[in-house]
Amino acid sequence: MWPNSRLTDLLGIEHPIIQAPMAGATTPAMAAAVSNGGGLGSHGCAMHTPDQFRADTRQIMDATNRAINVNFFVHEPPGHDDTKNAQAQALLEPYYEEFNLGSVPKAEPVHFPFDDAMLEAVLETRPRVVSFHFGLPSAAIVETIKENGIKVLSSATTVREAVDLENRGCDAVIAQGWEAGGHRGTYLSQATGAQVGTFSLVPQIVDALEVPVIAAGGIADGRGIAAAFALGASGVQIGTAFLNCPESSTSDTHKTALLSARDEDTRITTAFSGNPARGLINRYIEEMAPHQNELPDFPLMNTLGGPLRKHGAATGNRDFIALWSGQSASMNKVLPAGELLQLLVDDAQRHLNT
Ligand SMILES: Cc1cc2nc3c(=O)[nH]c(=O)nc-3n(C[C@H](O)[C@H](O)[C@H](O)COP(=O)(O)O)c2cc1C
Repeated sequence: MWPNSRLTDLLGIEHPIIQAPMAGATTPAMAAAVSNGGGLGSHGCAMHTPDQFRADTRQIMDATNRAINVNFFVHEPPGHDDTKNAQAQALLEPYYEEFNLGSVPKAEPVHFPFDDAMLEAVLETRPRVVSFHFGLPSAAIVETIKENGIKVLSSATTVREAVDLENRGCDAVIAQGWEAGGHRGTYLSQATGAQVGTFSLVPQIVDALEVPVIAAGGIADGRGIAAAFALGASGVQIGTAFLNCPESSTSDTHKTALLSARDEDTRITTAFSGNPARGLINRYIEEMAPHQNELPDFPLMNTLGGPLRKHGAATGNRDFIALWSGQSASMNKVLPAGELLQLLVDDAQRHLNT
Protein backbone atom coordinates (compact mmCIF):
# COMPACT_ATOMS: atom_id res chain seq x y z
CA MET A 1 0.00 0.00 0.00
CA TRP A 2 1.06 3.61 -0.60
CA PRO A 3 1.25 6.32 2.09
CA ASN A 4 -1.49 8.32 0.38
CA SER A 5 -3.84 7.51 -2.45
CA ARG A 6 -4.64 11.00 -3.70
CA LEU A 7 -2.97 10.55 -7.08
CA THR A 8 -3.93 6.93 -7.62
CA ASP A 9 -7.57 7.82 -6.84
CA LEU A 10 -7.50 10.89 -9.09
CA LEU A 11 -6.04 9.09 -12.11
CA GLY A 12 -7.53 5.65 -11.55
CA ILE A 13 -4.17 3.88 -11.40
CA GLU A 14 -2.78 1.21 -9.08
CA HIS A 15 0.72 2.60 -8.42
CA PRO A 16 1.55 6.32 -8.06
CA ILE A 17 4.40 6.10 -10.55
CA ILE A 18 4.24 8.02 -13.82
CA GLN A 19 6.71 7.02 -16.53
CA ALA A 20 7.54 10.48 -17.88
CA PRO A 21 6.41 11.50 -21.35
CA MET A 22 9.63 12.06 -23.33
CA ALA A 23 9.26 13.45 -26.84
CA GLY A 24 11.51 11.43 -29.13
CA ALA A 25 12.17 8.71 -26.55
CA THR A 26 8.85 7.25 -25.40
CA THR A 27 6.92 4.82 -27.59
CA PRO A 28 3.42 3.33 -27.60
CA ALA A 29 4.97 0.04 -26.44
CA MET A 30 6.61 1.70 -23.42
CA ALA A 31 3.48 3.59 -22.36
CA ALA A 32 1.31 0.48 -22.71
CA ALA A 33 3.74 -1.69 -20.73
CA VAL A 34 3.80 0.77 -17.82
CA SER A 35 0.03 1.25 -17.79
CA ASN A 36 -0.50 -2.51 -17.93
CA GLY A 37 1.81 -2.78 -14.92
CA GLY A 38 -0.42 -0.44 -12.92
CA GLY A 39 1.58 2.79 -13.32
CA LEU A 40 0.71 5.66 -15.64
CA GLY A 41 2.32 5.11 -19.04
CA SER A 42 2.94 8.34 -20.91
CA HIS A 43 3.83 9.33 -24.45
CA GLY A 44 5.61 12.56 -25.42
CA CYS A 45 3.67 13.88 -28.42
CA ALA A 46 5.08 17.43 -28.67
CA MET A 47 6.66 16.68 -32.05
CA HIS A 48 3.72 14.70 -33.46
CA THR A 49 1.25 15.85 -36.10
CA PRO A 50 -2.38 15.25 -35.10
CA ASP A 51 -2.47 12.17 -37.37
CA GLN A 52 0.73 10.72 -35.89
CA PHE A 53 -0.74 11.38 -32.46
CA ARG A 54 -3.97 9.57 -33.38
CA ALA A 55 -2.05 6.57 -34.73
CA ASP A 56 0.24 6.29 -31.69
CA THR A 57 -2.58 6.75 -29.20
CA ARG A 58 -4.68 4.07 -30.89
CA GLN A 59 -1.66 1.77 -30.75
CA ILE A 60 -1.34 2.35 -26.99
CA MET A 61 -5.06 1.86 -26.49
CA ASP A 62 -5.01 -1.37 -28.49
CA ALA A 63 -2.38 -2.66 -26.07
CA THR A 64 -3.95 -1.49 -22.79
CA ASN A 65 -7.37 -0.52 -21.55
CA ARG A 66 -5.90 1.28 -18.54
CA ALA A 67 -5.24 4.98 -17.98
CA ILE A 68 -2.65 6.60 -20.24
CA ASN A 69 -1.13 10.09 -20.43
CA VAL A 70 -0.26 12.04 -23.57
CA ASN A 71 1.93 15.15 -23.41
CA PHE A 72 2.28 18.37 -25.39
CA PHE A 73 4.28 21.60 -25.31
CA VAL A 74 2.47 24.91 -24.89
CA HIS A 75 5.33 27.34 -25.49
CA GLU A 76 4.78 30.83 -26.88
CA PRO A 77 5.42 30.91 -30.65
CA PRO A 78 8.95 32.30 -31.21
CA GLY A 79 9.54 35.96 -31.98
CA HIS A 80 11.37 36.97 -35.15
CA ASP A 81 14.75 38.47 -34.34
CA ASP A 82 16.82 38.58 -37.53
CA THR A 83 19.98 39.62 -35.69
CA LYS A 84 19.78 36.75 -33.20
CA ASN A 85 18.94 34.30 -35.98
CA ALA A 86 21.91 35.43 -38.07
CA GLN A 87 24.23 35.26 -35.05
CA ALA A 88 23.10 31.71 -34.27
CA GLN A 89 23.54 30.67 -37.90
CA ALA A 90 27.07 32.10 -37.82
CA LEU A 91 27.83 30.14 -34.63
CA LEU A 92 26.72 26.89 -36.26
CA GLU A 93 28.39 27.44 -39.64
CA PRO A 94 31.82 26.04 -38.61
CA TYR A 95 30.14 22.75 -37.59
CA TYR A 96 28.24 22.55 -40.89
CA GLU A 97 31.56 23.11 -42.68
CA GLU A 98 33.39 20.55 -40.53
CA PHE A 99 30.90 17.83 -41.50
CA ASN A 100 30.09 19.05 -45.05
CA LEU A 101 26.43 19.59 -44.24
CA GLY A 102 25.83 22.56 -46.56
CA SER A 103 24.31 25.74 -45.21
CA VAL A 104 22.61 26.21 -41.85
CA PRO A 105 18.80 26.04 -42.28
CA LYS A 106 16.56 29.12 -41.98
CA ALA A 107 15.20 29.89 -38.51
CA GLU A 108 11.65 28.64 -38.98
CA PRO A 109 9.83 26.50 -36.39
CA VAL A 110 9.21 22.87 -37.30
CA HIS A 111 7.28 22.01 -34.13
CA PHE A 112 4.23 23.91 -32.96
CA PRO A 113 2.48 24.42 -29.64
CA PHE A 114 -0.73 22.55 -28.77
CA ASP A 115 -3.54 23.91 -30.98
CA ASP A 116 -7.17 23.34 -31.96
CA ALA A 117 -6.31 20.56 -34.42
CA MET A 118 -4.51 18.63 -31.67
CA LEU A 119 -7.33 19.35 -29.23
CA GLU A 120 -9.75 17.74 -31.70
CA ALA A 121 -7.50 14.67 -31.93
CA VAL A 122 -7.27 14.45 -28.12
CA LEU A 123 -11.05 14.67 -27.72
CA GLU A 124 -11.46 11.98 -30.37
CA THR A 125 -9.06 9.54 -28.71
CA ARG A 126 -9.87 10.41 -25.06
CA PRO A 127 -6.85 9.38 -23.04
CA ARG A 128 -7.46 9.47 -19.27
CA VAL A 129 -4.75 12.11 -18.74
CA VAL A 130 -3.23 14.95 -20.76
CA SER A 131 -0.11 16.69 -19.49
CA PHE A 132 1.54 19.87 -20.69
CA HIS A 133 5.05 21.31 -20.53
CA PHE A 134 5.88 25.07 -20.38
CA GLY A 135 2.57 26.02 -18.75
CA LEU A 136 -1.00 25.35 -19.86
CA PRO A 137 -3.09 26.14 -22.94
CA SER A 138 -5.88 28.77 -22.78
CA ALA A 139 -8.53 28.59 -20.06
CA ALA A 140 -11.13 27.60 -22.70
CA ILE A 141 -9.02 24.65 -23.87
CA VAL A 142 -8.29 23.47 -20.31
CA GLU A 143 -12.01 23.65 -19.54
CA THR A 144 -12.96 21.71 -22.68
CA ILE A 145 -10.45 18.96 -21.87
CA LYS A 146 -11.70 18.68 -18.30
CA GLU A 147 -15.37 18.73 -19.35
CA ASN A 148 -14.58 15.66 -21.41
CA GLY A 149 -13.49 13.79 -18.29
CA ILE A 150 -9.76 14.04 -19.00
CA LYS A 151 -7.41 14.96 -16.13
CA VAL A 152 -4.91 17.76 -16.74
CA LEU A 153 -1.33 17.88 -15.40
CA SER A 154 1.60 20.23 -15.94
CA SER A 155 5.11 20.77 -14.58
CA ALA A 156 6.19 23.54 -12.21
CA THR A 157 9.79 24.40 -11.43
CA THR A 158 8.93 26.99 -8.73
CA VAL A 159 6.19 27.51 -6.13
CA ARG A 160 4.97 30.49 -8.19
CA GLU A 161 4.46 28.29 -11.27
CA ALA A 162 2.77 25.58 -9.18
CA VAL A 163 0.25 28.07 -7.73
CA ASP A 164 -0.40 29.45 -11.21
CA LEU A 165 -1.02 25.95 -12.60
CA GLU A 166 -3.42 25.10 -9.77
CA ASN A 167 -5.30 28.40 -10.23
CA ARG A 168 -5.64 27.65 -13.94
CA GLY A 169 -7.24 24.26 -13.35
CA CYS A 170 -4.52 21.60 -13.13
CA ASP A 171 -5.82 18.46 -11.41
CA ALA A 172 -2.34 17.67 -10.08
CA VAL A 173 1.01 19.44 -10.43
CA ILE A 174 4.38 17.90 -11.24
CA ALA A 175 7.13 19.49 -9.12
CA GLN A 176 10.11 19.26 -11.49
CA GLY A 177 13.38 19.70 -9.58
CA TRP A 178 16.67 20.96 -11.01
CA GLU A 179 18.00 17.38 -11.16
CA ALA A 180 15.52 16.43 -13.90
CA GLY A 181 16.59 15.29 -17.35
CA GLY A 182 15.32 16.90 -20.56
CA HIS A 183 13.56 20.24 -20.87
CA ARG A 184 12.74 22.25 -17.78
CA GLY A 185 9.05 23.11 -17.67
CA THR A 186 9.97 26.65 -16.55
CA TYR A 187 7.65 29.26 -18.00
CA LEU A 188 7.35 32.15 -15.53
CA SER A 189 10.96 32.74 -14.51
CA GLN A 190 14.09 33.48 -16.51
CA ALA A 191 15.16 30.71 -18.87
CA THR A 192 18.05 29.52 -16.75
CA GLY A 193 16.50 30.57 -13.43
CA ALA A 194 14.34 28.34 -11.29
CA GLN A 195 17.23 26.17 -10.14
CA VAL A 196 15.36 24.64 -7.20
CA GLY A 197 16.28 21.03 -6.41
CA THR A 198 13.64 18.33 -5.95
CA PHE A 199 14.24 17.99 -2.19
CA SER A 200 13.60 21.69 -1.65
CA LEU A 201 10.86 22.16 -4.25
CA VAL A 202 8.48 19.32 -3.38
CA PRO A 203 7.57 20.22 0.24
CA GLN A 204 7.27 23.92 -0.62
CA ILE A 205 4.86 23.15 -3.46
CA VAL A 206 2.96 20.65 -1.28
CA ASP A 207 2.46 23.38 1.33
CA ALA A 208 1.24 25.88 -1.26
CA LEU A 209 -1.28 23.69 -3.13
CA GLU A 210 -4.57 21.88 -2.53
CA VAL A 211 -4.16 19.47 -5.46
CA PRO A 212 -1.87 16.40 -5.33
CA VAL A 213 1.81 16.97 -6.09
CA ILE A 214 3.96 14.63 -8.20
CA ALA A 215 7.71 14.75 -7.54
CA ALA A 216 10.09 14.63 -10.51
CA GLY A 217 13.82 14.98 -11.01
CA GLY A 218 16.57 12.56 -10.04
CA ILE A 219 14.22 9.85 -8.76
CA ALA A 220 15.62 6.51 -9.87
CA ASP A 221 14.76 3.83 -7.31
CA GLY A 222 12.60 2.96 -4.31
CA ARG A 223 14.59 5.22 -1.99
CA GLY A 224 13.75 8.24 -4.15
CA ILE A 225 10.08 7.25 -4.33
CA ALA A 226 9.86 6.77 -0.55
CA ALA A 227 11.62 10.14 -0.05
CA ALA A 228 9.12 11.84 -2.36
CA PHE A 229 6.24 10.56 -0.20
CA ALA A 230 8.07 11.67 2.95
CA LEU A 231 8.26 15.17 1.42
CA GLY A 232 4.49 15.18 0.96
CA ALA A 233 4.19 14.11 -2.67
CA SER A 234 1.39 11.80 -3.77
CA GLY A 235 3.36 10.25 -6.60
CA VAL A 236 6.45 10.50 -8.77
CA GLN A 237 7.26 11.07 -12.43
CA ILE A 238 10.39 9.28 -13.61
CA GLY A 239 12.07 9.87 -16.98
CA THR A 240 15.77 9.10 -17.28
CA ALA A 241 15.46 5.66 -15.62
CA PHE A 242 13.19 4.53 -18.51
CA LEU A 243 15.59 5.59 -21.28
CA ASN A 244 17.53 2.32 -21.21
CA CYS A 245 14.41 0.18 -21.60
CA PRO A 246 14.30 -1.71 -24.89
CA GLU A 247 11.00 0.05 -25.64
CA SER A 248 12.72 3.45 -25.58
CA SER A 249 13.21 4.88 -29.08
CA THR A 250 16.22 6.98 -28.21
CA SER A 251 19.43 6.21 -30.11
CA ASP A 252 21.89 3.48 -29.13
CA THR A 253 24.52 6.22 -28.81
CA HIS A 254 22.35 7.92 -26.16
CA LYS A 255 21.63 4.63 -24.37
CA THR A 256 25.33 3.72 -24.26
CA ALA A 257 26.29 7.17 -22.96
CA LEU A 258 23.71 6.91 -20.16
CA LEU A 259 25.11 3.60 -18.99
CA SER A 260 28.54 5.11 -18.32
CA ALA A 261 27.24 8.45 -16.96
CA ARG A 262 28.34 9.74 -13.57
CA ASP A 263 26.53 12.15 -11.25
CA GLU A 264 28.74 15.04 -12.39
CA ASP A 265 28.31 14.50 -16.13
CA THR A 266 25.19 16.56 -16.91
CA ARG A 267 24.66 20.26 -17.63
CA ILE A 268 21.73 22.52 -18.35
CA THR A 269 21.97 23.90 -21.88
CA THR A 270 19.82 26.06 -24.15
CA ALA A 271 21.97 25.22 -27.17
CA PHE A 272 19.80 22.50 -28.68
CA SER A 273 16.35 24.12 -28.63
CA GLY A 274 16.66 27.59 -27.08
CA ASN A 275 15.04 26.49 -23.79
CA PRO A 276 17.01 25.08 -20.86
CA ALA A 277 17.28 21.31 -20.73
CA ARG A 278 19.57 18.88 -18.89
CA GLY A 279 21.78 16.50 -20.83
CA LEU A 280 25.14 14.73 -20.71
CA ILE A 281 28.01 17.08 -21.48
CA ASN A 282 29.42 16.84 -24.98
CA ARG A 283 31.48 19.02 -27.31
CA TYR A 284 28.47 20.95 -28.63
CA ILE A 285 27.20 21.85 -25.13
CA GLU A 286 30.67 22.92 -24.02
CA GLU A 287 31.45 25.02 -27.08
CA MET A 288 28.02 26.70 -27.14
CA ALA A 289 28.03 27.46 -23.41
CA PRO A 290 29.32 31.05 -23.74
CA HIS A 291 26.46 31.85 -26.16
CA GLN A 292 23.55 30.40 -24.13
CA ASN A 293 21.83 33.73 -23.59
CA GLU A 294 22.10 34.99 -27.16
CA LEU A 295 20.18 32.24 -28.94
CA PRO A 296 16.86 32.56 -30.82
CA ASP A 297 13.60 31.71 -29.03
CA PHE A 298 12.51 28.09 -28.49
CA PRO A 299 12.18 26.02 -30.64
CA LEU A 300 14.18 27.72 -33.44
CA MET A 301 17.53 26.19 -32.43
CA ASN A 302 15.94 22.79 -33.11
CA THR A 303 15.60 23.83 -36.74
CA LEU A 304 19.01 25.49 -37.04
CA GLY A 305 20.79 22.47 -35.57
CA GLY A 306 18.53 19.81 -37.17
CA PRO A 307 20.94 18.51 -39.86
CA LEU A 308 23.85 18.61 -37.38
CA ARG A 309 21.92 16.45 -34.88
CA LYS A 310 20.80 14.09 -37.65
CA HIS A 311 24.39 13.71 -38.82
CA GLY A 312 25.50 13.04 -35.22
CA ALA A 313 22.80 10.40 -34.84
CA ALA A 314 23.57 8.73 -38.17
CA THR A 315 27.31 8.52 -37.47
CA GLY A 316 27.01 7.64 -33.78
CA ASN A 317 28.82 10.88 -32.86
CA ARG A 318 27.75 11.70 -29.30
CA ASP A 319 29.23 15.19 -29.57
CA PHE A 320 26.38 16.67 -31.59
CA ILE A 321 23.23 14.94 -30.34
CA ALA A 322 21.11 15.86 -27.33
CA LEU A 323 21.96 13.24 -24.70
CA TRP A 324 19.11 14.26 -22.37
CA SER A 325 19.66 12.93 -18.89
CA GLY A 326 18.85 13.70 -15.27
CA GLN A 327 21.46 13.61 -12.53
CA SER A 328 20.77 9.97 -11.53
CA ALA A 329 21.50 8.21 -14.84
CA SER A 330 24.22 6.09 -13.25
CA MET A 331 21.41 4.18 -11.50
CA ASN A 332 19.81 3.17 -14.85
CA LYS A 333 19.06 -0.47 -15.54
CA VAL A 334 18.51 -2.20 -18.87
CA LEU A 335 15.10 -3.76 -18.29
CA PRO A 336 11.78 -3.91 -20.16
CA ALA A 337 9.55 -1.04 -19.01
CA GLY A 338 7.02 -3.29 -17.26
CA GLU A 339 9.78 -5.06 -15.29
CA LEU A 340 11.40 -1.75 -14.37
CA LEU A 341 8.07 -0.46 -13.08
CA GLN A 342 7.59 -3.58 -10.95
CA LEU A 343 11.13 -3.27 -9.58
CA LEU A 344 10.45 0.36 -8.64
CA VAL A 345 7.15 -0.61 -6.98
CA ASP A 346 8.72 -3.45 -4.95
CA ASP A 347 11.76 -1.38 -3.98
CA ALA A 348 9.59 1.58 -2.91
CA GLN A 349 7.34 -0.70 -0.86
CA ARG A 350 10.38 -2.12 0.93
CA HIS A 351 11.62 1.36 1.84
CA LEU A 352 8.19 2.65 2.81
CA ASN A 353 7.56 -0.30 5.11
CA THR A 354 10.82 -0.18 7.05
C1 LIG B 1 14.84 12.35 -22.80
C2 LIG B 1 13.85 13.20 -22.05
C3 LIG B 1 12.83 13.82 -22.75
C4 LIG B 1 11.85 14.54 -22.06
N1 LIG B 1 10.80 15.06 -22.77
C5 LIG B 1 9.75 15.60 -22.09
C6 LIG B 1 8.56 15.95 -22.79
O1 LIG B 1 8.44 15.78 -24.01
N2 LIG B 1 7.54 16.47 -22.06
C7 LIG B 1 7.62 16.64 -20.69
O2 LIG B 1 6.65 17.10 -20.08
N3 LIG B 1 8.74 16.32 -20.01
C8 LIG B 1 9.80 15.80 -20.69
N4 LIG B 1 10.93 15.42 -20.00
C9 LIG B 1 11.03 15.71 -18.54
C10 LIG B 1 10.30 14.64 -17.70
O3 LIG B 1 8.91 14.84 -17.78
C11 LIG B 1 10.69 14.67 -16.22
O4 LIG B 1 10.51 15.96 -15.69
C12 LIG B 1 12.13 14.24 -15.95
O5 LIG B 1 12.48 13.14 -16.76
C13 LIG B 1 12.29 13.87 -14.48
O6 LIG B 1 13.63 13.75 -14.11
P1 LIG B 1 14.50 12.40 -14.32
O7 LIG B 1 14.83 12.38 -15.77
O8 LIG B 1 15.69 12.62 -13.45
O9 LIG B 1 13.64 11.24 -13.90
C14 LIG B 1 11.93 14.71 -20.65
C15 LIG B 1 12.99 14.09 -19.96
C16 LIG B 1 13.94 13.34 -20.63
C17 LIG B 1 15.03 12.68 -19.85
